[in-house]
Amino acid sequence: MAAKRILLIIGGGIAAYKAIELVRLLRKAGMTVRCVLTRAGEQFVTPLTLAALSENRVYTSLFDLKDEVEMGHIQLSREADLVVVAPATADLLAKMAGGIADDLATTLLLATDKPVLAAPAMNVRMWLHAATRRNVRALRGDGVTVMEPDEGEMACGEYGPGRLPEPEAIKRAIDEALSSPLPQEGDFSGQPDFAPANHRPLYGRRILVTAGPTHEPIDPVRYIANRSSGKQGFAIAAAAAAAGAEVLLVAGPVPLPTPPGVVRVDVETALEMAAEVQAGLPVDAAIMVAAVADWRAADTHRQKIKKDGSGAVPPLALAENPDILAGLAKSAERPPLLIGFAAETNDVIDHARAKLARKGCDWIVANDVSADPMGGETNRVHIVSQDGVDSWDRLPKQAVARKLMEKIADELDLRSPPDSD
Ligand code: CTP
Repeated sequence: MAAKRILLIIGGGIAAYKAIELVRLLRKAGMTVRCVLTRAGEQFVTPLTLAALSENRVYTSLFDLKDEVEMGHIQLSREADLVVVAPATADLLAKMAGGIADDLATTLLLATDKPVLAAPAMNVRMWLHAATRRNVRALRGDGVTVMEPDEGEMACGEYGPGRLPEPEAIKRAIDEALSSPLPQEGDFSGQPDFAPANHRPLYGRRILVTAGPTHEPIDPVRYIANRSSGKQGFAIAAAAAAAGAEVLLVAGPVPLPTPPGVVRVDVETALEMAAEVQAGLPVDAAIMVAAVADWRAADTHRQKIKKDGSGAVPPLALAENPDILAGLAKSAERPPLLIGFAAETNDVIDHARAKLARKGCDWIVANDVSADPMGGETNRVHIVSQDGVDSWDRLPKQAVARKLMEKIADELDLRSPPDSD
């Protein structure tokens, strides 16, 4: 059997040093390796090291190929059995997804007719960013095999997914790619599953979360508010992003940091929240955790209301706010899975059942706040649906969020299998 030929494109990044070990493993397995270094990659490994290990010329720029008689870029891109990009930086993935060819590496990637395997490496926030997720999805749709990065402590000190998979794992993926048929455009079945089971159960799903209170202004200095801390909603948004979903968090005024990988839109009033929810559609699931004020001041005073000295209190007329959840349930763009929250102090399940029917949602997560007031760190919840009641022990809000994500992922998979969009 002829030796398999790998064209290895090495992007910039601290993980580039692992490419050296990969070349060694591939050579040991009897494969021929040609290396292409991006300009950023050259900052981390030298062409000399790679040339010595691969026993082949190393290419760094389009000008290396100006003598088209010797080896043109088209030929170089097609002489391989497999093109491997390791490390694949966020920038390289974006260029690949966008079909940009502005240097030798990206030109080869656009010109090749061979299967492509990418091993990403980047900061966790960059990996979880909506733009990178979009690019990865597009690339997988185009038939590129994009490995899941490893999870762990990163060179920059943060923790999470984004580390370059170990050279042995990349080598296994290369063996697998070489032994499987060429993936076709839009064919997800060609994707080896590199992620541990249920690692990203919400991958490819778009999820909307509302969280926190709303503030309803009375005048420029006063407002109507409630005690919602936003903690449960933010924990849910964080858990959804960690489970692989694209997350839009519409947040009322709370001083909480935005969880990694979450797109956050801040609002103040119920009317603003309703507008941002509408603008965020369509989504696969909406989880309405916000404690939306039921009423707003009927007239907002432009100037501060002053005491007139007579002892008379100013009239405060209220107007009812729209019910965002009930409105969403009736809208043409109703998410396939619509979840409401309800904090109750008594007859928790009965009130939740009534709310489920009144609001037209699929589940009500009923939160028993009789023992623990709003703003605490734990919740005892009952998931009430047409199918019955699923009661959970009292758990930290993060654990409630993670458990809820598992339940949501199972439900969405049941309704529409993943990657069917
Ligand atoms: N909700 C909403 N818009 C509103 C009020 C509530 O979207 N104007 C949503 C909340 O985000 C939550 C669910 O509806 O998911 C239940 O909220 P809750 O305040 O318990 O409902 P109410 O209809 O206000 O019921 P109650 O009379 O118990 O306050």
